[in-house]
Amino acid sequence: MNNQHHVEMSNLAPREDLAANGSTNSALLTNEPLIKLKGISKTFGQHPVLDNIDLDLKKGEALAIVGPSGTGKSTILRIIAGLLAPDTGEVYIQGQQRKGLVEDVADPIVIGMVFQQAALFDSLTVEENVGFTLYHNSNLPRTRIREIVHQRLEMVGLEHAINSYPAELSGGMRKRVSFARAITYNPDDPKEKPEILLYDEPTAGLDPIASTVIEDLIRQLQCTEGICGSYAIVTHQHSTIRRTADRIALLYHGKLQWEGSESEIDTSDNPMVRQFFSGSVDGPIHVVD
Ligand SMILES: Nc1ncnc2c1ncn2[C@@H]1O[C@H](COP(=O)(O)OP(=O)(O)OP(=O)(O)O)[C@@H](O)[C@H]1O
Ligand SMILES: [Mg+2]
Repeated sequence: MNNQHHVEMSNLAPREDLAANGSTNSALLTNEPLIKLKGISKTFGQHPVLDNIDLDLKKGEALAIVGPSGTGKSTILRIIAGLLAPDTGEVYIQGQQRKGLVEDVADPIVIGMVFQQAALFDSLTVEENVGFTLYHNSNLPRTRIREIVHQRLEMVGLEHAINSYPAELSGGMRKRVSFARAITYNPDDPKEKPEILLYDEPTAGLDPIASTVIEDLIRQLQCTEGICGSYAIVTHQHSTIRRTADRIALLYHGKLQWEGSESEIDTSDNPMVRQFFSGSVDGPIHVVD
């Protein structure tokens, strides 16, 4: 649960804005993917989970990683975030190879993460959870932090819960607090603005309307707010895949079995894609309890 504080919270200005700001973003200039996974493998005990995975996330891309439960989707996100080291393979962040974990050496850009389990501190209020990084890593006065936190909570419709403790919230509300935390950074320090956000099941456990609010927010952040312009999202929820992903990668048996656009889901004749998106028990994907 402490891990979330090794990763900061995300943002990416559109190309014109960065140019206007005079930013020298090397990925912008070279077209280098923001994230490049090369030959990534990971085994837990005797259980191989990821087997020689190659995956790129380019600037401005919205990638969904889907696949049956337990196939390693969260593991991929944790490797991208620098919270977990692969056994073999290389991770490049904006063209720069990462050595070790993010807690050892900071990445050239900030990568934020919304965790599958909301991963909030139970003993802290919503305000203290969302503003955690600002309280610990900035000199902003308390009133200013509270203002920023309030504004972030408004975005997820939870400003009224600012003084609550996580135990007083529903699972879906905790998830939204976790979301607000992931998009909170010090506005006075552009370096802290996250470039990439990793969403692990951001809408799981939410009712359909609350899911739509979050899906819209993810797109709105990407397109208009200059936050989280590039992201990878892990989700089982069809509405979330449809509404937040431009490109989809299907993970099964340690491999990326298929990649395609959102519209290709309906036209692909890949039997795994057909089975996964129709939810059929018959097909090449075997779900073992
Ligand atoms: N730290 C760990 N130690 C041991 N095994 C682990 C660890 N993390 C993940 N695993 C195992 O790796 C496999 C993949 O886990 P992961 O959480 O990445 O799956 P997932 O695709 O995110 O599943 P879900 O859709 O249920 O969230 C599982 O079999 C899990 O038990
Ligand atoms: Mg998972």
